[in-house]
Amino acid sequence: MALDLTEIRAQFPALNREDIFFDNPGGTQITQKAIDRMEGYLIDSNANQGGAFATSRRSDAVLKESRRAVADFLNASCQDEIIFGANMTTLTFSISRALSRTFKPGDEIVVTRLDHDANITPWVMLAEERGCRIHWVDFHPEDGTLDLEDFQSALSRKTCLVAVGYASNALGTINPVKKIVQMGHEAGALVYIDAVQYAPHGPIDVQSLGCDFLVCSGYKFFGPHLGMLYGKYDLLDQLTAYKVRPAPNDPPGKFETGTQNQEGIAGMLGAIEYLEWVGATYGESHSEYYSSGYEGRRLRLKQAMFAIRAYEYELSRALLDVLEETPGVTVYGLTDRQRLDERVPTVSFRLKGKPPRRLAEELDKENIYVWDGNYYALAVTERLGLEASGGIVRVGPVHYNTGEEIKRFGEVLGRIAASID
Ligand SMILES: Cc1ncc(COP(=O)(O)O)c(C=O)c1O
Repeated sequence: MALDLTEIRAQFPALNREDIFFDNPGGTQITQKAIDRMEGYLIDSNANQGGAFATSRRSDAVLKESRRAVADFLNASCQDEIIFGANMTTLTFSISRALSRTFKPGDEIVVTRLDHDANITPWVMLAEERGCRIHWVDFHPEDGTLDLEDFQSALSRKTCLVAVGYASNALGTINPVKKIVQMGHEAGALVYIDAVQYAPHGPIDVQSLGCDFLVCSGYKFFGPHLGMLYGKYDLLDQLTAYKVRPAPNDPPGKFETGTQNQEGIAGMLGAIEYLEWVGATYGESHSEYYSSGYEGRRLRLKQAMFAIRAYEYELSRALLDVLEETPGVTVYGLTDRQRLDERVPTVSFRLKGKPPRRLAEELDKENIYVWDGNYYALAVTERLGLEASGGIVRVGPVHYNTGEEIKRFGEVLGRIAASID
């Protein structure tokens, strides 16, 4: 069954206005279920963890359920493999610090030019500190796909870590992460996946990927501002966490320094409940996942993400059509309609004669919200030679956006293009 956009949009209070939210890769709107969970938490369970009294017990129960829900979303083998934190960047710096104690001078780390800087600089700084060597993997500038030959040649017996994005927040490319994990493991490396940009768009299964770590951010998939890290339990157990003495010695607690954003964690449970509803309501026809051994919430979440992914192909196609029909537009990234399964509907472009910031401002006047610049994917705009001239304009619909919104965007963009001398 196709998504019913009226029903879907009714789940997001911010979507009752005229605004067209195409800024989603920078942060999505939040579902009512997440807001309810946060409000409920703050009213009924607002206490710190582990106390001998009712509000603390209720708080512990909500946080545990949220951790379980995230484990289900990622298909982790147990909830203790999920660590909450401020955001993806902070979690990545934290894990890089723990990992750095295990790396030695001469070890090699592989990063890619397609990644957000949050999955580059923590590793570059680690390498500087420990005397490790960084290998940069390039992407094909003509279509925004990762150069897998370059990746293969970056690997060696000295590679200790591969850091790679699931999907690019700049060009929308989905990387073949399962294959990358296999290649990384064959070289004897750990593989760290940044799934921040992919999480709102498709199903994630950390066990099937076999990755060692995977990170995502709640505010990018319909929840509040917080980050989540999956790590294989044994690895998390072995690593030394930077923690205070009274804090737990086992995962996940040993990595959750200080008091957490507990209402945010409760809100994340609401966001996942929303996705579970999407799966239960629209996901049944996507039976591909029945045979994969998912059950209960895990199954419904996979069905949800599959239904979302199917709908988003239409968004990608419509968006690429509108952009390519507009005179003066150059799209950066995959445009081949036969390869839409290799991208999410996050599309970056330039309009000749209009600097990205100016274009974003003109779209804002029509209540159309897009990002401009490098969105912290600095290596991408540098590689494309666009950094010095203002970067790129990014249009990023998600499943609550409609074909009509893309059409309206196309009309406004067409008018702006026609007004350039
Ligand atoms: C692909 C990607 N990775 C990492 C991040 C950083 O996430 P956070 O804001 O949770 O630190 C972002 C945020 O834009 C992103 O898009």
